[in-house]
Amino acid sequence: MTKQEPWNDASAYKPPLRYKVLTPLYDFTIAYLTREKTWRNAFINEISPSPTDRIIDIGCGTGSLAVAILKREPRTDYLGIDPDADALSRARAKIIGAGLKARMELGFFSANGLPEDSTPNKVISSLVLHQVPLGGKKQIITDMFRVLASGGKVHIADYGYQKPGLMRLLFRITVQALDGVADTQPNAEGIIPKLLEQTGFTDVCEVSRIPTLTGTISIYSGEKP
Ligand SMILES: C[S@@+](CC[C@H](N)C(=O)[O-])C[C@H]1O[C@@H](n2cnc3c(N)ncnc32)[C@H](O)[C@@H]1O
Repeated sequence: MTKQEPWNDASAYKPPLRYKVLTPLYDFTIAYLTREKTWRNAFINEISPSPTDRIIDIGCGTGSLAVAILKREPRTDYLGIDPDADALSRARAKIIGAGLKARMELGFFSANGLPEDSTPNKVISSLVLHQVPLGGKKQIITDMFRVLASGGKVHIADYGYQKPGLMRLLFRITVQALDGVADTQPNAEGIIPKLLEQTGFTDVCEVSRIPTLTGTISIYSGEKP
């Protein structure tokens, strides 16, 4: 049985805006405070979805990324996983409303829990790791590595290194005020690319850094050898 930790415990994980009652405000908040179109477009360009891709999106939330990916390439095989039932039902409604097809599963991402025919060639995640405790960041990245096919790619968009000054201040008074310092500070100090390399990913790079009203959002990529 999987040991319950704060990052895989249904009573302890953080919903999209930390408190369940705020979930209806999630899409509006992200659109207006994070320059969403800019970073999501840059992220999708990096993911570059193709008709033969099998993508797993960890912490797919309310499905904005799923819709954007599938509008770009409707033939991509997309599986979104998220432990939050409310977010996931919003995601399913968005996919149906846009006339697209995607699989969405309720639960925590675990390499052990995936069906054998789900081996992806790309694993992606956006705005999830910053709000997960350090042990959870390590576990998720390790499981991303385990599920990927050889030669597969990881793509992450999230709050990354926050340069001292304006970006660190904005991150402090917005994201850290909401999600707390303990889980978010490792991201602000630039831990994500280090964890990717320590896990075994090669060609790890920070593809872009996008300054926003809530701090800098970075886009990272890596490859499983
Ligand atoms: C800030 S939202 C981001 C949602 C979406 N990826 C996006 O780009 O809008 C973070 C999501 O991560 C999910 N989450 C939290 N802890 C998680 C975990 N340990 N594993 C997977 N997802 C998690 C939450 O339920 C929430 O939907």
